[in-house]
Amino acid sequence: MSRDGDFAGETVVITGAGSGIGQATAIAFGEAGANVVVADVDREGGQETTTTITEETTGDATFVEVDVTDDDDVETMVETATSEFGGLDVAFNNAGIPGTFDAVDEISEKDWQAIIDVNLSGVWRSMRKEIPVMLEDGGGAIVNTASVLGKAGEAETPAYTAAKHGVVGLTKVAALERATDDIRVNAVCPGYIETQMLDDAGVTADEELRAETEALHPMGRLGRAEEIAEAVLWLASDDASFATGETLAIDGGYLSR
Ligand code: NAI
Repeated sequence: MSRDGDFAGETVVITGAGSGIGQATAIAFGEAGANVVVADVDREGGQETTTTITEETTGDATFVEVDVTDDDDVETMVETATSEFGGLDVAFNNAGIPGTFDAVDEISEKDWQAIIDVNLSGVWRSMRKEIPVMLEDGGGAIVNTASVLGKAGEAETPAYTAAKHGVVGLTKVAALERATDDIRVNAVCPGYIETQMLDDAGVTADEELRAETEALHPMGRLGRAEEIAEAVLWLASDDASFATGETLAIDGGYLSR
């Protein structure tokens, strides 16, 4: 897809931009001419994304080391958009960690809290800082990363599934609150995407597990990070001017089964 200049001069903040879906989306925004605030707890990955954008695209980028469980970090991230690039037009709240494979009555309190803190509270913390800046700027677009597990349950993923259902709910609430303020709030619900997260979960290396996971998708394959990036750019663009509170599944048919 050609996107030369589609987001020229616009400032985009992306959490979890050092890897996978966040990285692919950051680069896609760079290709569209945006100024990207690359936010990640992983310095190396974040710097790699930043270098790619500044050296290989028409956009600009700056890296900020951000842990979305830390309110001060999130504030710094949003301030960087304003101080370095003069405002905030788009936010992609995407940072996430995988769940553990435990039943509801087996997951530890520690694991539960950690997964909810990043995957759900991290999105709330980010929107809490982003919305006031967008209000000052006269509007903006927010896209949150949920999951097919924000729409459907899967046994032994209690905290991850609860967090992602929470992201879907939070997206709708923020969309309703800001519907007349020119701030649109939407979410993407990816199927299983071939990223570091699936590598860490052992899915991509184990042939049997990979085949089982692929078979969850009627298309019979895993998704690519770039396929999610396309949806995020559309939701963030003026082409989606009447879309708000939407949770867009990009899932090879997973949720249509
Ligand atoms: P990934 O592991 O490749 O990237 C996640 C990024 O988030 C990493 O760079 C990591 O350092 C960063 N991160 C983790 N904790 C953070 C924190 N506390 N503060 C700031 N950054 C943090 O994984 P992927 O697949 O790109 O995941 C991105 C989002 O997509 C996550 O929210 C994930 O839950 C969601 N998702 C992923 C799917 C998949 O199959 N890969 C399916 C559906 C949703």
